[in-house]
Formats: sequence, C-alpha cells, structure tokens
Amino acid sequence: MKIGCPKEIKPQEYRVGMTPKAAHEAVVHGHSVLVQAGAGVGAGFTDEDYIAAGAEIAGTASDVFAKADMIVKVKEPQANERKMLREGQLLFTYLHLAPDPEQTKDLLASGCTAIAYETVTDHSGGLPLLAPMSEVAGRLAPQVGAWTLQKANGGRGVLMGGVPGVGPARVAVIGGGVVGTHAARIAAGMGADVTVLDRSLPRMRYLDDVYGGTFKTSYASAGNTAELVAQADMVIGAVLIPGAAAPKLVTREQLSSMKQGAAIVDVAIDQGGCFETSKATTHDDPIYDVDGIMHYCVANMPGAVARTSTIALGNATMPFMLALADKGWKQACADDPHLLEGLNVHVGQLTYFAVGKALGLDVISPQLAIK
Ligand SMILES: NC(=O)c1ccc[n+]([C@@H]2O[C@H](COP(=O)([O-])OP(=O)(O)OC[C@H]3O[C@@H](n4cnc5c(N)ncnc54)[C@H](O)[C@@H]3O)[C@@H](O)[C@H]2O)c1
Repeated sequence: MKIGCPKEIKPQEYRVGMTPKAAHEAVVHGHSVLVQAGAGVGAGFTDEDYIAAGAEIAGTASDVFAKADMIVKVKEPQANERKMLREGQLLFTYLHLAPDPEQTKDLLASGCTAIAYETVTDHSGGLPLLAPMSEVAGRLAPQVGAWTLQKANGGRGVLMGGVPGVGPARVAVIGGGVVGTHAARIAAGMGADVTVLDRSLPRMRYLDDVYGGTFKTSYASAGNTAELVAQADMVIGAVLIPGAAAPKLVTREQLSSMKQGAAIVDVAIDQGGCFETSKATTHDDPIYDVDGIMHYCVANMPGAVARTSTIALGNATMPFMLALADKGWKQACADDPHLLEGLNVHVGQLTYFAVGKALGLDVISPQLAIK
C-alpha cells in the first residue's frame, strides 16, 4: 500500500500523523510511505529523518493526496484537503464529525472511506486513540496551572511545592479519569497537596489502591466540590460524560468563594468546560481573568507539546495503521471489531450511528459496509 502523510494545516497544529519510526515500520512491512516536505518540522522531525526511515518526500499536499491509497493525519481534513479525497481512498485521522455537518457532507461526497481515531475502542471499553492525548493534557495541566499561579500571569503567587516552612499549593482535580489521574500524579510530584473528586466509587477505589499515599480522593457531591474549590489554589477540570457536554460543576457565584488569584485549568473545555465561566482560549492567549480567578482553557492542549504528543499518538495508531495497510481496511476491520468501531464513512454512507443521530442523517451499519 502507498501510505501518505500530509503536513497539518489547521492553525496551531504542529503534530504530524506519522513519525519517522512509524514510517520505518510501514516500509519494513513492504509498504511505501510518502511524506509531504516539512510535515514533521513542528514536531522536530526533518525530511532527512523520513528519508533515512525509507520514506519518500512529496513537494505538495496534492502530490500526497493524489498518490496515496491511505492518508494518515492528525486533525480532521480541512475544506481544501477534503476536495482532494477520492473514492477508494482510506482516511485515518481524528474526525469528530458529530458537531461538524460541513465536513461530514464533504467526506460523504468524496466517496472515501474514513476511520476516525476517536471512535476506535479497546477490549475494556476505552478509547485507545484518545487516551494518549488525555495523558498529555493531564500531565500538562499542573505545569500550565503552576505558570498561571505566578504573579506576572495574574496568579496568587503560590509555589506548587512550597518550601521548608511554607506549605504547598492545594490542588483540586474534578474528574479522576485519564486526564485527572495524570494531572494528580504530576501535581503531587511537584509537591502540591492534591485531592481528586469523582462520582465513580470503583474509580476512587482504584485511585486509592494505586495512589493512596500520593493524593487523596473525595466523592464529588456538590458540597464536597464547593468546599475543595474554595480551599484550592488550583482547580483542574477533567470530567467527561461520554457523548455529552461537560456538566457545569462550578458556577460564577462560586468564584467569589475562591482565593483571589487562584488558577482554573479547564481541560474539559473541548466538551464545553465544567466551569460556568470557561470559554475556549488558544496557546497564543491562553489565560483570562474572571472576578480575580485566572482561567486557562486551551482546547488543544497537546499542541503545546507537539513532539511528545506526536510520538504518543504514533505509538497508539501504529498497530492499527499497519493492520489497515497489511490486510486492507475491510479485512482489518473484519478481524478487529474495535477498529471497525472507528469506521465513520464509506463511499457516500455514514457508518457511525451517533454521528447520524447528531446530524439527522441516515446510517448503515459498519458490518454491512465491510460485506
Ligand atoms: N483540552 C484538551 O486539550 C483536552 C485533551 C484531552 C482530553 N480533554 C478532555 O478532558 C476531559 C476528560 O477526559 P478523560 O480522558 O480523562 O475522560 P475519562 O472518561 O477518562 O474521565 C472522566 C472522569 O470524569 C468523571 N466524572 C463524570 N462526571 C463527573 C462529575 N459530575 N463529577 C466528578 N467526576 C465526574 C468520571 O467518573 C470519569 O472518571 C474530556 O472532556 C476530554 O475531552 C481535553
């Protein structure tokens, strides 16, 4: 198979769909890899790295789209990329079609077959191609929160770990899933006094078993949440209700109970955020002030650490990418029901029910599509 990897063109997207190591694996499996010139630069990979891995370099995105059987990307294809997709071509990338009728219409019109990273599942019901980005965002949250707490950024001027004789920052993490656990580990590693709030007792049992000496857990009742938010120097929002907007767990009025200059890092902002006062920001201008509380609400946090994110995503996508290339998408999906869950579009038909429901469009079952 010829696998193509274009340069990402969405603003502030520095990741790339294939690392040189992933390209090398594909070449070892007998495939050819075509990478657009400069595609890896944002993540610290040069064209020479790809050539050394056995890939070819293409001058333009249109070269890549014209020649490749499978396109491997990071972000959903933008309007002018969608025009280059064609029937019989396989697209493997994040799509997030449910809130995006324009993209859905164009993908259906292109006749391509599209497998979305975000709907591929694993045997435990997890989302293996979303998890690495949650791990990145979770570990990044205390780092950006600590920066937000600095005086020059409008913060309280509190150091995460304190110093001998001065207590550490108090951090409340709302939601103890992938993001929350990684955030709590890093915040605790920085020396902060950390409590994770969640509504799932099995999850809190797990956290207590594994991290009992590292951070505390608290049931996320409205009362406990309000108490811990009021005491915190930093609050990290990390809740998820699958398929729904994030619940608003902290109201604007509650900000007045918080310490002046406290930091809110709302990682759940990509689902609307779990603070009433959250609105999405960008890496160019990440922080804003509401009533003296500093909010950090960047919707694409992993973009800030594009190299780590690219390698982490590449590790997760590589086995699926190789299966698709080795067997062809139909056989790969027939052999792996979790990969089949990723199928969203096939030759003008939607194959993912939640997207059809969100957009009011007809859907055929993915099982029918692979017949
Ligand atoms: N901003 C970014 O760049 C970025 C990157 C990755 C993930 N995210 C977002 O971070 C959020 C968390 O993702 P995740 O992978 O950790 O999800 P997850 O499913 O692993 O964890 C979510 C946790 O929230 C808990 N929860 C649900 N409702 C709650 C409530 N009312 N109170 C307390 N806890 C509650 C669940 O029990 C679960 O443990 C999602 O919204 C995700 O989209 C954002």
